[in-house]
Amino acid sequence: MIPPNRKALTDSRYGWAEYLTNDEMTVTPWEVSGEINYSKLIKQFGTQPLDNELLKRIKKHTGELHVQLRRGIFFSHRDFNWLLDRYESGEKFILYTGRGPSGNVHLGHVIPWLFTKHLQDTFKARLYFQLTDDEKFLMSQNLSLKDTLRLTYDNALDVLASGFDVKNTFLISDVKNSQTLYKIAVEVAKHVTYSTAKAVFGFKESSNIGILFFPAMQAAPCFLESAIVGKKVPCLIPAAIDQDPYWRIARDTAPKLNYYKPTQIHCKFLPGLGKGGKMSSSIPETCIFTTDKPKVAEKKIMSAFTGGKATIQEQRKLGADPYICPIYHYERFLFEPDDGKLAELERRCKSGELLCGEHKSSLAPKVVKFLKDHQEKREKAKDVVSDCFINSCDEKLQKALGLERF
Ligand code: TRP
Repeated sequence: MIPPNRKALTDSRYGWAEYLTNDEMTVTPWEVSGEINYSKLIKQFGTQPLDNELLKRIKKHTGELHVQLRRGIFFSHRDFNWLLDRYESGEKFILYTGRGPSGNVHLGHVIPWLFTKHLQDTFKARLYFQLTDDEKFLMSQNLSLKDTLRLTYDNALDVLASGFDVKNTFLISDVKNSQTLYKIAVEVAKHVTYSTAKAVFGFKESSNIGILFFPAMQAAPCFLESAIVGKKVPCLIPAAIDQDPYWRIARDTAPKLNYYKPTQIHCKFLPGLGKGGKMSSSIPETCIFTTDKPKVAEKKIMSAFTGGKATIQEQRKLGADPYICPIYHYERFLFEPDDGKLAELERRCKSGELLCGEHKSSLAPKVVKFLKDHQEKREKAKDVVSDCFINSCDEKLQKALGLERF
């Protein structure tokens, strides 16, 4: 973990307060904690709220809005209107998202992937999905490269189980497919000074030199399609808001390399099952892994923190607070797609009609069903996953990137 250096940040030439590290919350690519104030993040990160006007515009293309848009789970963006201008004038865009394979995948990770799948289906867009095994190896004290690569494979199964169109999805392992990214990464890296990287990411004297270069690797897929086809292709990145610092580097360098700046759409974090904070793999009781056995998942749900009162009598009288309750948020993020039914749950919770134990018992089978489906698809993904990784040995691809054999 690299603790962000606030002084360096405020001194940065960007003048951004990238890292809001105060008593309330910390949001960096390597740490998310505290109670997250999303409106404050929009201000601090200088992004735009996804407002009703933009939602209406999106709706023209997607039909009924995706549940994660209707419920403000995707809540912020950069340049989405610009992207739609291009799309409406006939220019297709590509999608880019990713995952740092540092451990098992949990439900919080899957949230933006499901939305990305929706975008892929709706806009028939190609998806580049980056697995940053380099980043996780470099940042972790106890992950060997071999373990990290095993996790790349393992996490890729979860990615495919999320339903992407395998014919239009390219997985990228930074370590195994570095040849394909490296040319773009060095071009990016040349335009990012140490002082900028330090300001944006809080690097320190003790940071290893691998991680200093890494932001260029995460920027590279933004421009990969453009580099392959030899003309500017718009790129849309659906991701949690903690990844935003990377896109600043990418957006800053894009015009210098004659690419479009990548567009972002940012989502919130699925809360953990404990009190406050996002789901975190380092506290396994508070998160449901996609590979959890039904009994384990059920037990985690039944022992979760809730917004309930201390006694049944009190709850019947005063009602519970759904907004601080992970059980309610699970329904809202994923498990109750019907808005009418969600509103009814909310009402019954607030009125004291619905007790927490009852609510947990009704959520558990929905979660178990999701896991069973996902685990089945995960098994099936084993047959196709190797072919979904970008083929760095493909001569045509390398030639398109200007990397033909000497
Ligand atoms: N750095 C991200 C992580 O640690 C992984 C990642 C790479 C990513 N490229 C991305 C996430 C693009 C979202 C969008 O999880």
